[in-house]
Amino acid sequence: MSANEVTRRGILGSAAAVAAASPLVGRAVAAENGSRSEKGSAMIPIELTVNGREVHFQLDPRTTLLDALREHLRLTGTKKGCDHGQCGACTVMLNGRRINSCLTLAVMHDGDSVTTIEGLGSPEALHPMQRAFITHDGYQCGYCTPGQICSAVSVLEEIRAGIPSHATEDLDRIVPSEAEYRERMSGNICRCAAYPNIIAAMRDVAGETQA
Ligand code: FES
Ligand code: FES
Repeated sequence: MSANEVTRRGILGSAAAVAAASPLVGRAVAAENGSRSEKGSAMIPIELTVNGREVHFQLDPRTTLLDALREHLRLTGTKKGCDHGQCGACTVMLNGRRINSCLTLAVMHDGDSVTTIEGLGSPEALHPMQRAFITHDGYQCGYCTPGQICSAVSVLEEIRAGIPSHATEDLDRIVPSEAEYRERMSGNICRCAAYPNIIAAMRDVAGETQA
């Protein structure tokens, strides 16, 4: 393992640890003290379950779920890439289904359950997909990685649930084709082009024999 790899992995692990340890209420508590946003909008009360913890706060109704997570709850593991639904960096799981959190308003999800990369695992107890991304070098700069991992976990659940994709050839097929994996992950862009390694990580977690 090169020094670069150690540093890169260390940074990712540390970032996840810091994010996991951050209080879910920070700026959210401050927001509760006022009834209007900085731009004068009436604040809307909202309750979410984020990574298993209930949070109550008030938000400007124009706040996206992505900004609520990053700016109000300080869960910065979820990344903002394009901020308009084209890159997948902001992927989280909402009530068990993956979504682009930049494309939806937080106030639309009162009472919903959100899982972010911080809720999937911790540096001490990685989710199998997080571990597989490390094993298979499924990242380079790491910016897309939280979204890729949330999507990858969801894709395996979608396959297990028999939800077809555009590339599904046979729902009874035990091992999806590489084309199917790529199609299912096509909403997650990686500028570092780690795609083959991401698919390898997914196949590893799915229990497939590597070609
Ligand atoms: S930041 Fe949401 S899709 Fe790019
Ligand atoms: S690892 Fe750099 S954008 Fe995907």
